[in-house]
Amino acid sequence: MDRDIRTVEDALRLLDDLFAPDADRWTADAAPWWDGFYADRSRPVPFFEPKPDENLVSYLDRGLVTAGRALDLGCGPGRNALHLASSGFEVDAVDLSPTAIAWAEGRARDLGVDVRFRRGDVFDLVGADRALTGPYDLIYDSGCFHHLPPHRRISYLGLLDRALAPGGHFALTCFAAGAMGSELPDRDFYRDARLHGGLAYTPEALRRIFSDLTEIELRRMRDEPPECPRMGEPFLWTALFRRDRLPAAS
Ligand SMILES: C[S@@+](CC[C@H](N)C(=O)[O-])C[C@H]1O[C@@H](n2cnc3c(N)ncnc32)[C@H](O)[C@@H]1O
Repeated sequence: MDRDIRTVEDALRLLDDLFAPDADRWTADAAPWWDGFYADRSRPVPFFEPKPDENLVSYLDRGLVTAGRALDLGCGPGRNALHLASSGFEVDAVDLSPTAIAWAEGRARDLGVDVRFRRGDVFDLVGADRALTGPYDLIYDSGCFHHLPPHRRISYLGLLDRALAPGGHFALTCFAAGAMGSELPDRDFYRDARLHGGLAYTPEALRRIFSDLTEIELRRMRDEPPECPRMGEPFLWTALFRRDRLPAAS
């Protein structure tokens, strides 16, 4: 008889197991799926181009985010991590896929840029008692969050709580409802045991989920033409939040 659940993490892992490894793209079991995705570098995938997100460039250009320690969650072939490192950040970057990490490391070597790339699950690697402790002045996520099943938002918020410095920024890009991703209600992903290629979000949902943080900017990503040195796809939301400093003790 199995009576294994004692902690929240036990319950989260039970929910993880409801999703077949080949039906989702985010657990450690999904690394082979992503490796296959990254195997052919010549495919016309927008984020295969070595260009940073237009919103990230804009945060830096406007001084909304300034250099410090950064963490790129689900960094893929490293285009945003490399831009941050080139802009003076000390960067840790994590991805499940060894193929993506090898690609990112090759790009870093070619550019002569220093990024600490780590292969693994962000939830295993980031935290006070883990390999990547932070605190980070910027946690950046381009396209990883929307591949997480609903219950892993709990882990995600825990990660931000543990690793984001007071006064630090969290920014993400994710599928915009009406443009890309599945709009099924949370419960249906468990019924179907699939994530249907990723979850769509509304601005209201993002505001609710990240309501412990202060919103700085939430807008659609600009549609950048192919010749632009920045990546911009209008089917994504871009959001920048700040973790407020604790009020000084009186
Ligand atoms: C849509 S891709 C985006 C890649 C990259 N951020 C970019 O924009 O170029 C999502 C990435 O998230 C990674 N990923 C998904 N779940 C993860 C997890 N739990 N831990 C680490 N990486 C994860 C995948 O391996 C994949 O490379």
